[in-house]
Amino acid sequence: MKVGILTSGGDCPGLNSVIRAIGKHLINNSPETEIYGITDGYAGLIDGEFRRMSAEDFSGILNVGGTILGTSRRPFKQMTLPENGTTRLEKMVENYKKFGFDCIFTLGGAGTHKTAALLFAEGCRIIGLPKTIDNDIFGTDTTFGFHSALDIATECIDRIHTTAASHGRTMFVEIMGNKVGWLTLYAGIAGGADIILIPEIPFNLEKVAEALKRRIEGGKPFNIVAVAEGAVLDSEVNFKKKERAFARRTLNEATVTNHLAQWVSDNVGVETRVVVPGHIQRGGNPSAYDRLLSTRLGSFAAQLCLDGKFGVTAAIVNGQITYNALTEVAGKTKFVPADSQVIRAARDIGISFGD
Ligand code: F6P
Repeated sequence: MKVGILTSGGDCPGLNSVIRAIGKHLINNSPETEIYGITDGYAGLIDGEFRRMSAEDFSGILNVGGTILGTSRRPFKQMTLPENGTTRLEKMVENYKKFGFDCIFTLGGAGTHKTAALLFAEGCRIIGLPKTIDNDIFGTDTTFGFHSALDIATECIDRIHTTAASHGRTMFVEIMGNKVGWLTLYAGIAGGADIILIPEIPFNLEKVAEALKRRIEGGKPFNIVAVAEGAVLDSEVNFKKKERAFARRTLNEATVTNHLAQWVSDNVGVETRVVVPGHIQRGGNPSAYDRLLSTRLGSFAAQLCLDGKFGVTAAIVNGQITYNALTEVAGKTKFVPADSQVIRAARDIGISFGD
């Protein structure tokens, strides 16, 4: 049997731990299986760039961040667009067949899963694995990479706390997540933020000002505001994605955070600063939680392959590793439910969501 492994989309801690678990599981349980690493995600499948992997490749990478296979973003929408008489999808299917793959493991996020579903529909045997620091993949409680990023984002907020307190400033920490607010919500709570702004709960500038003033009047001269990259003003809610992007570009900003900080400085009269940890949240070693989750998911996915179960993606639900059909989850987003227990607990301890 010939299997391929690819890592696609934004990297995150835990990719190598999954690669290792798939490799070791197959070597231990099906030694005759040939394993190939596909370079740079779907780009490698499009261009036919594969390399044979052996036991040594799977050693010493459990705790190493990033991906030893390389990754790239290949937008889903471009997969089916004709280019010089063929599409990227057709090239991938052709390479899959020509090389004689029996299965490809696709480690990736929402976009990766959509392309994986397309490949499966075209007759390629695919098994997905849920990667992303955004935690937005439908049908799994957690994605690998999320907890590592959460630890990093929380540490960032902790560090901002001490400097904010020393200077009596209002600090805005922009956390990754352009569609969903899981990382901002969890890191905001874990880091003791006073206000948390996430895409799922559009915020109102006056409400943010009220929350800040309440705290200041209560004797706290500093504030921490955790802002998701994708946080939206209530006045922007009815904007289409493109209109919002245009409005932001006009202000020369990709996110709302700088605008918000300036507004607060002008209207609340406090000194503000913006901190953007950015890709630091995706870098470095996986946490212990992610090493364990990645190992469980990778080993499970390898067994799915040996059992001949394809067109699925591994998941964790209520602590149990399981799988979902790609057709059931691809193209769906797992948003933070506005009435979730976590949000209720945050509100009950006085955290404002700016609404
Ligand atoms: O999907 C993961 C993510 O880190 C998002 O949170 C963020 O908006 C995006 O990727 C950044 O992408 P890039 O690495 O391409 O700048």
